[in-house]
Amino acid sequence: MCRATGQQVRPAVTEGADHRVPPGTLCAIPTAAEDTNLNAQPMSPDAAALRAPSEQAAADPRTAAVIPAAGRGVRLGPGTPKALRSLNGTPMLVHAVRAMAQARAVSLVVVVAPRESLSAVRNLLDEHSLPEVPVVPGGETRQDSVRLGLAALPDDVEIVLVHDAARPLVPAEVVDAVAGAVRDGAPAVVPALPVSDTVKRVAAPLQTGGPEPVVETPDRSRLRAVQTPQGFARATLAAAHARIGREGEGATDDAGMVERLGVQVVVVPGSEQAFKVTRPLDLVLAEAVLARRRRTDGF
Ligand code: C5P
Repeated sequence: MCRATGQQVRPAVTEGADHRVPPGTLCAIPTAAEDTNLNAQPMSPDAAALRAPSEQAAADPRTAAVIPAAGRGVRLGPGTPKALRSLNGTPMLVHAVRAMAQARAVSLVVVVAPRESLSAVRNLLDEHSLPEVPVVPGGETRQDSVRLGLAALPDDVEIVLVHDAARPLVPAEVVDAVAGAVRDGAPAVVPALPVSDTVKRVAAPLQTGGPEPVVETPDRSRLRAVQTPQGFARATLAAAHARIGREGEGATDDAGMVERLGVQVVVVPGSEQAFKVTRPLDLVLAEAVLARRRRTDGF
């Protein structure tokens, strides 16, 4: 659980409240096996170690994960916002929070939720034994939501990971690899995979509804499909959000904004399991991955 010396850990979630998280708050989140909504399994020694941040971790620059989860997720069809859709009985957002919290590097997880669903999200996290994950209101765009999550972080956080709730199954190794690369000095790090499809750049159709002319076929060997969490030195991400601001409208990831600052972004290996749950078929795949994990890992 989050720890804070002499501080009230649980944040308010009402609009207009100060959403900053108290400095010194440390979180260790129950694993899926500890979740009362799942069949309880004995904790592995590794999982037990994650509950209490080690002295080594305490000596590292403090790392927080911001999870923007304030989108509507219309591509999955009508109904519940995407982050609250269930995967094998547990909301996608809960999987995403656990994925971040299980990484050794991460000591604080902050969720950015739709303004109108703050209480619902707070209750949902409570129900899944995640009572000390701060929830802050999001904005109109993903970029706004990330900026608001970033603004809520305590001053002592030096490394920020931004992770889409829509990638609930990212393995802890990927999270730690991203944070580790930032800790080693890279100001901006993205996990990514080579692309298997050949990609074409197209122009607008010559007439409405007509075929799109192909403009270019980039060399596939130099292309990467980028995932999250994306990791940043806090100052770099804050500068991108402050300076690129509105000009960055339409940016689909944070690293893209940092690139516009002229700062070097580097890539570390991602994971097939970190795929984005966007369309109905992705839900089927995600549930299959979870079922396999439960068979092989016990949770
Ligand atoms: O729409 P897209 O799939 O790119 O969204 C990526 C992530 O950004 C999702 O986790 C979504 O909930 C979040 N988001 C947000 N605030 C918005 C729009 C999207 O937090 N206004």
